[in-house]
Amino acid sequence: MKHLLSPLDLSVNELDELLDLARDISRDPSRYSHCCDGKKLATLFYEPSTRTRLSFEAAMLNLGGSVLGFASADSSSAAKGESVSDTIRIISCYADICAMRHPKEGAPMVAAGKSSIPVINAGDGGHQHPTQTLTDLMTIRELRGSLNDFTIGLCGDLKFGRTVHSLINSLIRYKNIKFILISPKELRVPDYIREDVLNANHVEFEEVEKLEDVMPLLDILYMTRVQRERFFNEDEYLRMKDFYILDPAKMALAKKDMYVLHPLPRVNEISVEVDDDPRAAYFKQAQFGVYVRMALILKLLELDKKEV
Ligand code: CP
Repeated sequence: MKHLLSPLDLSVNELDELLDLARDISRDPSRYSHCCDGKKLATLFYEPSTRTRLSFEAAMLNLGGSVLGFASADSSSAAKGESVSDTIRIISCYADICAMRHPKEGAPMVAAGKSSIPVINAGDGGHQHPTQTLTDLMTIRELRGSLNDFTIGLCGDLKFGRTVHSLINSLIRYKNIKFILISPKELRVPDYIREDVLNANHVEFEEVEKLEDVMPLLDILYMTRVQRERFFNEDEYLRMKDFYILDPAKMALAKKDMYVLHPLPRVNEISVEVDDDPRAAYFKQAQFGVYVRMALILKLLELDKKEV
């Protein structure tokens, strides 16, 4: 049984194969439109989502399969106290594969331990968001042609932003990547990312507070929102929420070929005036998310080698 619980569940070779498949799908999705005929995807979302849930659903529908699931804990028997372990045993009777988002870190891993179908971690608390990382990697590879040799600035809520943790974990496996971690001191990356991931692997990085100072150095700028739902104190959130706002004046300091990514949703951290800048890649990134999830479903269902 194969699951996707962490971006590191895939080796670099497997990741390359997956991204090649996603690229092939992106060039002609209709060729894949019957690969999952008769298969069912369950989306078990205990936390709100627009992109991840709907792009998973679009991915399975594009492959000819069907979808079922719930979009909030309140609309499932979790509201009556059912455990994740019991829920996944039931879902294993109804579907062939499932994507789970949960506010508790590790919940999809618990589910995988009791599941007889592949489980995909669609975001667990402030921990990991592996399919967003696959989306981010595809976006960088499609835009730059390679996942080696660039400087990436990760900006905003680096403490609670699970997409940042997953992306750092993945990118350290590529050559000559330099990280510039841009955050207020209250929202710096967790110690385990700094020590066990970056320092332990001798990866070049620096931590700064001011975005303007490093804009000219960046090949990729990965903006993130301040994660309101993970703050214990609303006043603290309000103090932090507009710490960074990317606007045309800041974009003018950047390289002509620096791309801006954002996992979305955005709140205020990218001004809408930036949307028309050709370097703004975040809506394209969301489109890549569908192709990469189509490729992932095919791989986990072992349908990726099927003739199309
Ligand atoms: N990027 C992302 O995870 O968006 P959603 O929360 O809308 O799924």
